[in-house]
Amino acid sequence: MWAELLPVGRSSASGGYRRYAWTGADAECRAWFEDQARARGLAYETDRNGNQWAWLGDLAAGNAVVTGSHLDSVPDGGAFDGPLGVVSAFAALDELRRGGARFTRPLAIVNFGDEEGARFGLACVGSRLTAGALTVEDAHRLTDGDGITLPKAMEAAGYDPDAIGPDPERLARIGAFVELHVEQGRALDLTGDAVGVASAIWPHGRWRFDFRGEANHAGTTRLADRRDPMLSYAETVLAARREAELAGAVATFGKIAVEPNGVNAIPSLVRGWLDSRAADQHRLDTVVTGIEKAAREYAAAHGVDLDVVRESFTPVVEFDHALRDELARILGKDTELTVPVLGTGAGHDAGILSARVPTAMLFVRNPTGVSHSPAESAAEDDCVAGVRALADVLEGLACT
Ligand code: GLV
Ligand code: MN
Ligand code: MN
Repeated sequence: MWAELLPVGRSSASGGYRRYAWTGADAECRAWFEDQARARGLAYETDRNGNQWAWLGDLAAGNAVVTGSHLDSVPDGGAFDGPLGVVSAFAALDELRRGGARFTRPLAIVNFGDEEGARFGLACVGSRLTAGALTVEDAHRLTDGDGITLPKAMEAAGYDPDAIGPDPERLARIGAFVELHVEQGRALDLTGDAVGVASAIWPHGRWRFDFRGEANHAGTTRLADRRDPMLSYAETVLAARREAELAGAVATFGKIAVEPNGVNAIPSLVRGWLDSRAADQHRLDTVVTGIEKAAREYAAAHGVDLDVVRESFTPVVEFDHALRDELARILGKDTELTVPVLGTGAGHDAGILSARVPTAMLFVRNPTGVSHSPAESAAEDDCVAGVRALADVLEGLACT
């Protein structure tokens, strides 16, 4: 499976993946998923929001155990964020079938569309739409950096954008969702465990800061006469770091757009996107409020206008305790003290679904903790341990 997936959407320049929603690379990943489903004799379907499903057993029976993740990537992402969960799902099913497992509940493997939000700015669009956490109107307004709307992009990829929307019937079929994911930190490396269970996802969001000044000549405009939005943006980046440090949170400006974007022009617009996350809502509010307040002061000092728009937000997610404990039990350990139970600052479709169905996550050790980078890694032995753990969990939940 890896041999087939590894070249898809890989940039030879960076070695990272550029698998953005509804692009050619995404279509190749989707074709791969469908092939995997059909090769195993699973019932394949695409739902109204473009998420892909591969079913074993009667999909209408209800109480299904679902596993899977996503195949899209951030710009120059790693090989494992997303695909590890999908590959491990198929591999775990193979393992169970080899062992002659007898399923008492339907099982499905899912590939959620547009998890990273790399193209349209909003993460987890496929699962949000399905769960009713994103309105159709808002989804129809999503636009990429080239001005292409989500409906146009879906249409170009052969999907019907008018069909998108909440999917309560599909959610009603699911009894449990378990997403396996490469860890995006070093907690397991530090505890010396190959696999852990998730406890919670930090509340997180994305905010767009538009600093508007005045374009002018870089050579002839006196410093005192400038309304340079780059200055207030730069000061805001430093304020973000300071506020995050004070609150024990994280805050990142990782994407920026500049107009007119000329070497010898003072910018008229600097648009920066803030991603901020914290262990609890209060801390996150403190950080973002502090950054915005500082940004307004800097903007005013430079004669720059500032608009701040919250583009997405996901509240804290506490995974289902009963399912989490069941996973810990199945994995052969009896208390939280022996199975590492970790919180994470990374967002996941599992976090979105957890508002609607009992949801849990397994993490596989990442020796460097690096993620959202071509340098993301996981050892083969750990990936195999992840497959075994997932197979044990699926067997414990769905087999006699
Ligand atoms: C998704 O990976 C996110 O946490 O941004
Ligand atoms: Mn990711
Ligand atoms: Mn992911």
